Amino acid sequence: MNIFASLSSLSITLAATSATTNPFLWYVTRAAATSAYITLSVTVIIGLFRSLARVSRLRNSRALWLLDELHPYLAVLTLALVVFHLLSLVFDPLIPFSLLNLLLPFDQPYRPLAVDLGVLALYGLAVVWLSSWVKHRIAYASWRALHYTSFAAFVLVTLHGIFAGSDSGEPWMRVLYLGVSGVVTLLVLARIFWPEARQTNSSRVAPARRGR
Ligand code: HEM
Repeated sequence: MNIFASLSSLSITLAATSATTNPFLWYVTRAAATSAYITLSVTVIIGLFRSLARVSRLRNSRALWLLDELHPYLAVLTLALVVFHLLSLVFDPLIPFSLLNLLLPFDQPYRPLAVDLGVLALYGLAVVWLSSWVKHRIAYASWRALHYTSFAAFVLVTLHGIFAGSDSGEPWMRVLYLGVSGVVTLLVLARIFWPEARQTNSSRVAPARRGR
């Protein structure tokens, strides 16, 4: 065998090895996932602020405009980042994820239970994205009920990230998970127990009670 044949077989071996061990796409997957988690969290937090602004009858039109603009914009950005997270998984030769693995919560090639939570979170987010898309064609009450799925999806994504992620042990990632979960919990409690919100809720059920 001459020297050119040996060199070409060596380069083929090196190319094949780097195709299966190059972690570039794995880094892309994780960067996209963490960015998606950040934009999703900010979207949820802004949505809760918007809801609080409504029940507290905030009149600052500039603040309301900003919240109304940012909320859908960040939701679409989250969708794009999730697509990026999933496509880089499928094209990454390190772990063989198929399209079916992304769509069905069975038989995952990596941390199965944690990844299944990601698939379920994706279903929840799909309900929120699709219902917002047809918001003006469905009844407001139906849209609102479907929009509440976002809370379940947020919890599922957080658990998915904590248990599937390679970065969960990093201090900055722990601060992110704990900080965001804490802020969302506080805002949900504020929204439920806000005095005017409670008044609105009780005045909503009052006619039904009177009718009984
Ligand atoms: C079909 C649905 C999904 C699948 C199959 C999936 C798969 C994965 C996998 C394999 C990992 C581990 C990557 C690593 O080693 O860090 C991961 C991590 C992660 N995923 Fe997903 N995921 C899905 C949906 C989602 C969604 C919808 C979000 C967010 C909106 C998300 C956010 C995250 C986060 C935050 C991490 C942790 C990243 C890190 O620690 O670096 N995933 N996902």
